[in-house]
Amino acid sequence: MSEKSNIIIFDTTLRDGEQSPGASMNIEEKLRIATQLEKLNVDVIEAGFPIASDGDFEAVRKVAQNIKKPQIAGLCRANFKDIDRAWDALHHAGDRGRIHTFIATSDIHMERKLQMPPAKVLETAVKAVEHACQCTKNVEFSCEDAVRTRIEFLAEMVEAVIVAGATTVNIPDTVGYAIPHEYYDIIKYLKDNVPNIDQAVISVHCHNDLGLAVANSLAALRAGAGQVECTINGIGERAGNCSLEEVVMALRTRHDIMPYTTGIETEHIYSASRMLSTITGITVQPNKAIVGANAFAHEAGIHQHGVLMDKETYEIMTPESIGLNKNKLVLGKHSGRHAFVARLVELGYDLEKDDIEKAFVRFKSLADAKKEIFDEDLDAIVADEVIRIEEHFKLSQMNVTSGSFAAPTATLQMWVEGDEKKTAVMGAGPVDAVFKAIKKLTGSKAELLQFSVGAITGGTDAQGECTVRLREDGREVIGQGSDEDIIVASAKAYINALNKMATVVERGNRVSI
Ligand code: KIV
Ligand code: ZN
Repeated sequence: MSEKSNIIIFDTTLRDGEQSPGASMNIEEKLRIATQLEKLNVDVIEAGFPIASDGDFEAVRKVAQNIKKPQIAGLCRANFKDIDRAWDALHHAGDRGRIHTFIATSDIHMERKLQMPPAKVLETAVKAVEHACQCTKNVEFSCEDAVRTRIEFLAEMVEAVIVAGATTVNIPDTVGYAIPHEYYDIIKYLKDNVPNIDQAVISVHCHNDLGLAVANSLAALRAGAGQVECTINGIGERAGNCSLEEVVMALRTRHDIMPYTTGIETEHIYSASRMLSTITGITVQPNKAIVGANAFAHEAGIHQHGVLMDKETYEIMTPESIGLNKNKLVLGKHSGRHAFVARLVELGYDLEKDDIEKAFVRFKSLADAKKEIFDEDLDAIVADEVIRIEEHFKLSQMNVTSGSFAAPTATLQMWVEGDEKKTAVMGAGPVDAVFKAIKKLTGSKAELLQFSVGAITGGTDAQGECTVRLREDGREVIGQGSDEDIIVASAKAYINALNKMATVVERGNRVSI
């Protein structure tokens, strides 16, 4: 196998992934994900779009300062102002900083969006790459909407940006339009017709509008692409991006016919997936490949029988290979701090002393109420006590009366921007009363789009997990909360969503791509 068979994994969870509706993350959350991506050993982390807002800039800067192994990329349009701003954030990563600049190359984008003739687009791209090369030698150029670009123009563009100094050239399927053999042909055409193509790595970036992002990425590797751009859980614009776990596990499982390797430490996949869902509130569908709850469940009797006789009868990869521990019963009332911390570390959490203390107190109170504590309970505890930092609003106390006779009433006390406030409100039901009380105390105008309740594990003593989706002024956020008491979990989810909304509003109107 040649050296070229090692595929560069470029993770864009923090940039394209964050463009999923409701997926916005604060700086702290982005750093947590970046740390998990470093554990996964991705080659490149695209940390954000620095010119988009001050918050995006800060996040890219912090990731560039704190993450030590992967390269750190920042996106910018093909103009000097964007590029300089990106480098201001990225230079902290030194040689590992990568400028990723782009411009659209399809006729429809050039005519209708950019309103620029092709020659001008080409000149703009070349100037941008040359400018970026004055900051760093690590420059990626993307031909936005490459799949719908005239192939001769695409080849001309790729050749020109490589001459200008681009070391990676990305051929995105921006609108998720390609089908595998067509995408293969595009990459193959470039490989065969661009004279200097071997001086750059060809990257692929597929969106999942037709559910083909992973298949297209694999087809492109066969044609000679050397880098795959992907996201955890496949989150991203619209139907999402190529999923990291799917493309990596496909390469690992079918190495017999796809002789490519990646540096990904696959045992960290499951915790990365859970961490992202917890932070964004975007849950994974149960039948999602690799990380869905049913991905390793063998329901049918004949399958169970086969798996018991020999796992390989129905299992093409092991749950352990993605870090899924099937032995889920972990801790109980008598477990001490040591066992608690050890389990958190196994789950991929690397917490500060104070955070461990907060989580341990909550663990003890849960263990008093609930006989068996599962990994999912620990995730919820860490999410509530450590990850979901409440900056603007925080619940102090609540009491709710409801039943078939009493008028549902919520009495609620909470911190609102540093002041402790209290109110009592009646509603159609207990959750309605709680939400009305929170709205009254915070003065929020956000519209409630979705409210859902689930149990984290089985049993009537399970913790309830609630999700709340809010919209205000065109911005959407998703909040989550968990508790043994489902009404308290609902209040926490609503308050978490309001905190996220406040963060998004603080970040201001972002420049969109
Ligand atoms: O989908 C796309 O074309 C992109 C580019 C900015 C790389 O995300
Ligand atoms: Zn994209």
